[in-house]
Amino acid sequence: MTTILGIESSCDDTSAAVIRDGFLLSNVTAGQAVHESYGGVVPELASRAHQQNVVPVVHEALKRAGIDKSELNAIAFTRGPGLLGSLMVGTSFAKGMACALDIPLIDVNHLQAHVLAHFIKEPDADNRQPAFPFLCLLVSGGNSQIVLVKNYNDMQVVGQTIDDAAGEAFDKCAKVMGLPYPGGPLIDKLAQNGDPNAFAFSKPNIAGYDYSFSGLKTSFLYFLRDHLRDNPDFIEQHKADLCASLQKTIIDILMKKLERAAKDLRITQVAVAGGVSANSGLRQAFCQRAERKKWEVFIPKFSYTTDNAAMVAITGYFKYQDNDFCDIALPPFARVTI
Ligand code: KG4
Repeated sequence: MTTILGIESSCDDTSAAVIRDGFLLSNVTAGQAVHESYGGVVPELASRAHQQNVVPVVHEALKRAGIDKSELNAIAFTRGPGLLGSLMVGTSFAKGMACALDIPLIDVNHLQAHVLAHFIKEPDADNRQPAFPFLCLLVSGGNSQIVLVKNYNDMQVVGQTIDDAAGEAFDKCAKVMGLPYPGGPLIDKLAQNGDPNAFAFSKPNIAGYDYSFSGLKTSFLYFLRDHLRDNPDFIEQHKADLCASLQKTIIDILMKKLERAAKDLRITQVAVAGGVSANSGLRQAFCQRAERKKWEVFIPKFSYTTDNAAMVAITGYFKYQDNDFCDIALPPFARVTI
């Protein structure tokens, strides 16, 4: 029996989870409302909130799992990428706890963990898992990547954004419309009542499987500026259509490259991961491709789309099986790729 505690603190969610033999026993997350009034995450405030949250969150995760800390075989923590101050809190806590319990420490790449969230098993769930090799569209507030997943610990980024991430495009365009942070979920909600073909925004022309979202952001900004000149209520009067059209444009951009990569690499197992995978339009687009392209698609549960420690614990579980442990002196990394 292998029992792993996972700790996640890369941005503004403090999370702890326990995985036993691949099955989730608990997953506890404390968010940070403190950033709401600032329109984005304030790194220093995030670190302080992690410090306040980490002990009760880990305590609660062990309690809900129904285990004592002496039953843990290893502690996995997010090493990066993320905000350095936030990462330091989770990393230091994991090191201290692993030292005190005299058990191995496992460093986890946050991006790899998002992909491996598809392998978390839950009691009484269908636990369908992608088969290797598969493609994973990893879309969050900081990343937009197409990852070729050859094995649990063998992944290759075949395409990625050269500027903004998809989540950033959602959030920045939402901000231009006066919506609060994070704007992605709000755009998704408002888009339900809008016409996705009401407005057209520029799509990038980038070689290969790479993405670009900065042009879309600028095109959206200029489009609004021009219309607001004639009609100061333009946003208010067309909010649902603006959201639906913007969302459709972002999804079209994401799916076009993913389809191309799947075709060229002859892959039909396709997954999506990261915060933006919560988007209802993107989920719908995946289901449509499943029919049209004969893909077998894998869409994560909502609780595994945003930052969570369950994905850190499952990654730690696979690394534990490879005896892939890290040294106590290993520092966190703000910038690191898969
Ligand atoms: O993975 P995540 O929780 O954090 C990191 O960036 O690591 O992703 C957060 C991003 C934000 O940009 C947020 O606006 C976006 O995911 N997001 C969504 C939705 N839910 C979250 N974007 C579009 N539609 C959603 N339903």
